[in-house]
Amino acid sequence: MRLLDLLHRDPEPRPWAEGEKIPWDDPDFSRRMLKEHLSQRHDAASRRTPLIKKHVAWIHEHLLGGQPSRVLDLGCGPGLYSARLATLGHACRGIDFAPASIEYAVKHAPEACSYTLGDLRTTDFGSGYGLAMLIFGEFNVFKPADARLILRKAFEALDPGGKLLLEVSTIDALYESGNQPATWYTAKNELFADAPHLCLMESFWDDEQHVATERYYIVDLTSGEVTRYASSSQAYEREEFVAMGRQAGFREVTFYPSLTGSASTPDGMIVIVMQK
Ligand SMILES: C[S@@+](CC[C@H](N)C(=O)[O-])C[C@H]1O[C@@H](n2cnc3c(N)ncnc32)[C@H](O)[C@@H]1O
Repeated sequence: MRLLDLLHRDPEPRPWAEGEKIPWDDPDFSRRMLKEHLSQRHDAASRRTPLIKKHVAWIHEHLLGGQPSRVLDLGCGPGLYSARLATLGHACRGIDFAPASIEYAVKHAPEACSYTLGDLRTTDFGSGYGLAMLIFGEFNVFKPADARLILRKAFEALDPGGKLLLEVSTIDALYESGNQPATWYTAKNELFADAPHLCLMESFWDDEQHVATERYYIVDLTSGEVTRYASSSQAYEREEFVAMGRQAGFREVTFYPSLTGSASTPDGMIVIVMQK
């Protein structure tokens, strides 16, 4: 794209029409994103270590009753949860389509951990798990049909009585993110490019479909070349989560305020546990 093309951009892009999500699976983007996952300055791509430790303790004690289990970590990123669960005695498998994250996870994996580079929509989940989990809001970013597919695949992969843990964005958080004013920044070398660039960001809220969309134009400041990315997130009512869980075969759907069990949810997420 060229700069002039910005003039003709769609003023209200339809959800997912201009891209499904940020390019996690692009090797260069993934290399840059890995730095953000590991950063201890913010909780943007993964949470910082002290919070992850609290989450893992809650999962281990509260969901797994402190008993060794087989855990499937969907969208595992660099394996920051599964590696810790493995040191507590659980056998873990992580799946993610971000190459640098999987490379890091494999390199730092305790013995009881394995990782697969693959898309959750098409990769075989295997079977025999006591817990499957999809942490940090990614469930909402899938188109509803893909989200339903992942629920069905997770259901099939679990043992009877097994649990699916979803950490999802709340409607309020997505409504707020979709109603942010347009903004921009410049950077020498950051998440979206290795070279000096300008990032123009716009947010949209689709009031009919309850979808928040973020659109990014990355302008290479040397060549003027423009690259567009977009990411949409579906907001769900609690009853919709319950209906989707039941449709996938789960018999019980329980909500928790957070992954630490505490009632404060500063990052706009809630936790759902679906039991087979
Ligand atoms: C917000 S990050 C969370 C990572 C990890 N769960 C954590 O909390 O540290 C979302 C992850 O989902 C992965 N992801 C998104 N869509 C995916 C897909 N279709 N298949 C596999 N992984 C995917 C991304 O690559 C990324 O690592």
